[in-house]
Amino acid sequence: MSEESLTVSQLYAKGKEKLDKMGVDRWFPPDSNLAASVQTNRRYLDSLFFEPRFFDPVEVDTNFAIFSRKLKAPVFCSAISKLPWMPESAIADIAQGMSNAGSLIMLGIGGSKELQSAIDTGAPVVKIVKPYRNTELIYKKARDAESRGCVAIGMDIDHFYGVLAGDKVGRTELFGPQPTNELRQLISQTKLPFIIKGVLSGRDAEKAVQLGASAVVVSNHGRASFDFMVPSMIALPRIVESVGDKLTVLIDTGFNTGNDVLKALAFGAKAVGFASSILLAFAADGSRGVESLINQISAELHRTMAATGCATLSAINRSMVIETPLMKE
Ligand SMILES: Cc1cc2nc3c(=O)[nH]c(=O)nc-3n(C[C@H](O)[C@H](O)[C@H](O)COP(=O)(O)O)c2cc1C
Repeated sequence: MSEESLTVSQLYAKGKEKLDKMGVDRWFPPDSNLAASVQTNRRYLDSLFFEPRFFDPVEVDTNFAIFSRKLKAPVFCSAISKLPWMPESAIADIAQGMSNAGSLIMLGIGGSKELQSAIDTGAPVVKIVKPYRNTELIYKKARDAESRGCVAIGMDIDHFYGVLAGDKVGRTELFGPQPTNELRQLISQTKLPFIIKGVLSGRDAEKAVQLGASAVVVSNHGRASFDFMVPSMIALPRIVESVGDKLTVLIDTGFNTGNDVLKALAFGAKAVGFASSILLAFAADGSRGVESLINQISAELHRTMAATGCATLSAINRSMVIETPLMKE
């Protein structure tokens, strides 16, 4: 009696249709000239092509270990939070989809109850604490995440100057810059691995190493932090070059497919985060849609790894990607 599951493009189309019908503001209109970083990231990803190795086929293994947990593929749900249009159980449902797909979920703004509901699904959960001006609140959230069994904690430092929605900057009273010493102290007093989310330069990545972070997420935050910051895929190689293996380099913003994931891995990222795409899949088909999306992204990654002769994630490298000139519109 189970219906056939939707393909990736069907999930995205159905999710968009549903959200449009509900009048949900999807961050920026598709025809807008806002979000230059996100749109350029997309165009850049689409200008990268793989060099195939069809001879000498290999057995592919996409398994990936992070924060002492094993994932089926180097793909995760980047920090999300419950939006007004979502049902009460949305975070638990999305986490259930991620758990079923053998993946990890990061949660952003939200309370303990939601966090617990995600942890209860068995998915590895990471709490990304906001850069609150109220330091006590930061510690309270970090301690709460630790005691509930999160696998890591982090902070989206790129939201320090407020949140961008359309042309409007909001929440500047709530979020603020985090003095370096306070960040260092927070990281040293946190028992779990610490992630800095929103890094877009080699300098900031090096700083994250010095402060004791275990990972960074190279990210434009969708476009919710700043416009015209360097697109994450373009920033990635410099970051990898400056920190090497001193911390784990993760990336998000504008990734839609398994081939996108392989391109980021070829440029040196260890895993790729999806947020908006997961919300579309959730809007289209609930936790089943989320599970199916992650499974299909992982399957495409697996397939293209086979076609490029990569048996393991460590075999993926920059030389398998050929950069073509960006196409004129
Ligand atoms: C509904 C929604 C809520 C989000 N909430 C947070 C948050 O609380 N903290 C955070 O660091 N990022 C948050 N993000 C940003 C994502 O983690 C991610 O950086 C961004 O959406 C880019 O990835 P994408 O292009 O796959 O959407 C949110 C994104 C979405 C779509």
